[in-house]
Amino acid sequence: MQRLRVRTKAPRSEYEIKIGFGVIENVGNDARRWLGPHARRIAVISNKTVFEIYGQLSVLSLRTAGFEVSSCLLRDGEQAKSLNSIQNLISFLSNENFERSDGILALGGGVVGDVAGFAAAIYLRGLPFIQVPTTLLAQIDSAVGGKTAVNLKTGKNLVGAFHQPAGVLSDVRTLQSLPRRELVAGLCECVKQGVVSGKPLFNQTRRVLGELNSSSVTLMSLPLVKMIAAHCAFKAAVVKGDEREDRDRSDRRSRRILNFGHTAGHALEAVTRYKRFRHGEAVGVGMLVAGELSKHLGMLPAAELELLREAVRQCGRLPRTDDLDENDILEAIAHDKKSVSGSVQWVLLEGIGRPRIVSGKEFARRDLKLALRRALKMEVAR
Ligand code: NAD
Ligand code: GLY
Repeated sequence: MQRLRVRTKAPRSEYEIKIGFGVIENVGNDARRWLGPHARRIAVISNKTVFEIYGQLSVLSLRTAGFEVSSCLLRDGEQAKSLNSIQNLISFLSNENFERSDGILALGGGVVGDVAGFAAAIYLRGLPFIQVPTTLLAQIDSAVGGKTAVNLKTGKNLVGAFHQPAGVLSDVRTLQSLPRRELVAGLCECVKQGVVSGKPLFNQTRRVLGELNSSSVTLMSLPLVKMIAAHCAFKAAVVKGDEREDRDRSDRRSRRILNFGHTAGHALEAVTRYKRFRHGEAVGVGMLVAGELSKHLGMLPAAELELLREAVRQCGRLPRTDDLDENDILEAIAHDKKSVSGSVQWVLLEGIGRPRIVSGKEFARRDLKLALRRALKMEVAR
């Protein structure tokens, strides 16, 4: 079992992350510690897929710890990240008379965590919530750091709040029921964090990727638990230094570096109407675009780009990209919602562990087009 503490600003000064095998069976005791003796009720927010596998176990443990438990299930998939889901969740909490001392528990992947977290942030101006992430992506990234959001028709994560959890409980055993594609998506996000963090986390991630591919390590292994813990520690350190993603910061440890691969990744998701790529898969291709662009602009040595390409390759097969229209992708990038003063913000690379935030105004459209073409073609050649 690995334990970490994440420091945050008021009103919650720190919270715990616990990572281990089978820890979900004890979620009631952890929830009691994190929510305190006055918490009477807990709402388990999940979806049908996850709740069918892990719901009963969690509810039993919570009841044993003295909670009155009710559950509310979202639709499965990115479509659940909507204001409509928030409306339904808030009505549910209100109809069930949830009070400020009660808690919310998000049981599922990044979608469940983002929606449940946002409802927790705004219902009664903030209820404590616990993250029980069940995908690799959620365990290393979305459950840590307090970003919560839903999507609008015009783009992803456009309405949300920063709301830090009261605790995070990652049961690595839940990854065993994860579909292969979801694992690949999570591994891509591991590469993303490794690349912006530095050689130690990047190499640790590559070792686990190699071991998973050679089957010398399974999803129930200590190296995997340690890798997840190392990713959480890195993310916690970045969040501690820049909890609210300060727009004026563009240094190497600003929270914005965690968006590496996301500018092109979000565009790929948008042009395929969120149907072709899992979020992490799109980030996988997006990292190749950012890597090619970095090399083309003379920032990234060819050998370091090759390390990145190899790591993405190790994650597994990604959806095809050769049939996508470059101009559609360029158009979607131009409308990126994370623009600052009208210019798209790119996280590029000067080397492994050396991210650099660059304004889209600093290079020509033809540079980006070339990088995009190379990255999409490389995907075909895999
Ligand atoms: P997801 O939540 O859609 O889960 C993926 C699929 O796996 C779903 O069908 C889900 O039902 C299923 N599933 C989950 N756990 C399972 C398990 N243990 N066994 C079997 N099936 C399981 O996808 P995700 O990749 O976890 O999250 C993606 C979302 O996270 C995106 O909306 C993205 O924007 C968001 N995100 C948020 C942050 C943040 O900081 N808040 C960071 C990264 C990503
Ligand atoms: N996943 C990016 C962040 O949490 O900032």
